[in-house]
Amino acid sequence: MSYTDELTITGLGAAYARRQIIADLSLAPMQPGQVISLIGPNAAGKTTLLRSIAGLHPTTGSQLLGTRELTHMALADRARLVTYMPQSLPQKVALTVLEGVIGALRASPIDGDSLSEQQLLETALDVIARVGIPQLAMTALDQLSGGQRQLASLAQALVRSPRVLLLDEPISALDLHYQLRVMKLVNALARERGMMVIMVLHDLAIAARWSDRIVVLAQGQVVADGTPAEAITAEVLAHVYRVVARVEPEETGLRIAIDDILTR
Ligand SMILES: Nc1ncnc2c1ncn2[C@@H]1O[C@H](COP(=O)(O)OP(=O)(O)OP(=O)(O)O)[C@@H](O)[C@H]1O
Ligand SMILES: [Mg+2]
Repeated sequence: MSYTDELTITGLGAAYARRQIIADLSLAPMQPGQVISLIGPNAAGKTTLLRSIAGLHPTTGSQLLGTRELTHMALADRARLVTYMPQSLPQKVALTVLEGVIGALRASPIDGDSLSEQQLLETALDVIARVGIPQLAMTALDQLSGGQRQLASLAQALVRSPRVLLLDEPISALDLHYQLRVMKLVNALARERGMMVIMVLHDLAIAARWSDRIVVLAQGQVVADGTPAEAITAEVLAHVYRVVARVEPEETGLRIAIDDILTR
């Protein structure tokens, strides 16, 4: 399989018990090398959608990566292509950051089998440095702050070098420097590797600045889908978030001001 594969989702459904969260959701082909941000209110189904694409939640419908139907693949095969970084991060393990990243790389069948110990170490250290936490390489995961833990988890996801990287609110615990650092890094890796990144974000200005495409999800439905300027409009924000917003294009993205909430 090449890195030219598009991901096309058609008629996806996902439910918890008998409660349908997502019904008949379709997305036009997502391209390799693209950064796609998934935005929308709490409980819209964003995490459910990412978990569905990762194969971690039972679904109906089709998810085609190139010519391969992901929903027909065994989870282990699918995990070679698709990596999911969860929204909440249980890292109560007594491994160091470096050991965690090496473990993730070893478990990644694309690289893990063929690399020497030295190559494993160098690859892991390189990713840790690019994420911006080289000083934490030897620190135990269970001694990290919330933001540091998020960065360590991101390093574990990135080192696997998947075709499709799914990140669920990867910058929610990060300070301003690391928010920007992660968005720049994810964009750079998408371009370098032809990796497709689908990420959930709540910060619309950051999403607009650093995404090629925005999908707005509300109540399990796609409400808007397009370039940031197409998808993030005052009308969409009023409908989806019940806020009074002003959205103006600016050189590096969109200027978004939220003036009030709509209470009716
Ligand atoms: N394990 C579960 N069992 C039952 N219902 C669930 C479960 N997980 C999520 N749900 C329900 O599915 C719906 C969508 O949840 P989901 O986590 O996908 O939302 P989200 O868009 O990621 O929200 P947030 O922005 O708060 O993370 C919600 O109504 C939620 O209550
Ligand atoms: Mg979520």
